[in-house]
Amino acid sequence: MQPIISPSVLSADFGHLQRDCEMLNKSSADWFHIDIMDGIFVPNLSFGFPVLKSIQKAARKPLDVHLMIVDPDRYLETFQQHGAWQISVHYEACTHLHRTIQRIKSLGVKAGVALNPHTPVHVLEDIIASLDLVILMSVNPGFGGQKFIDRTYAKTTKLKDMIISQQSSCLIEIDGGVNAENAGQLVAAGADALVAGNFVFSSSDPISTIAKLKTSQ
Ligand code: DX5
Ligand code: ZN
Repeated sequence: MQPIISPSVLSADFGHLQRDCEMLNKSSADWFHIDIMDGIFVPNLSFGFPVLKSIQKAARKPLDVHLMIVDPDRYLETFQQHGAWQISVHYEACTHLHRTIQRIKSLGVKAGVALNPHTPVHVLEDIIASLDLVILMSVNPGFGGQKFIDRTYAKTTKLKDMIISQQSSCLIEIDGGVNAENAGQLVAAGADALVAGNFVFSSSDPISTIAKLKTSQ
């Protein structure tokens, strides 16, 4: 099976956002990955609702929203109103994770959980059956263009085993430092979706870079 490709708009040229969104529309990308950072959960700020509104208008593919923010419950409804098709919250940012996941689902939005590199996958054992997506962070969240952490392969295999043994339909998405060198091994380990920011947007031909990732195996 070919992986789902979710290019991270964080690495787009915000002076030419419309152009970059149209490029993604034309490409073999499946989702638009939207990184939201609050400067508290992660040491960086990304963008907020006015920019998301422009992306929503331009995008012809599902918005895969990754919230790197504390207390995400405050904004779930507003993200849904801004076209979020899927919302992932961080395990490390949610005290009542089960409740937050139920709230996302009650909005008619797919629900995901992201794990930081230091967080073991077994913490999801009692919630995996309710999830549509797990994002395994393969860098420390906050910035694009960082180096992939190799431990992610073993985490992917372990998570895949958990998903299969609980007969969950949850997908695994890998986020951070993904490129043509590690994509094949990630798919072989059980990854269903790959986020790529820097690798796509810094390449001279992003459309063929996306196509290359799409055929990784
Ligand atoms: C990291 C973000 C990622 C990141 C991916 O905090 O969640 O989505 O932008 O970018 P690359 O592929 O450049 O690591
Ligand atoms: Zn992300």
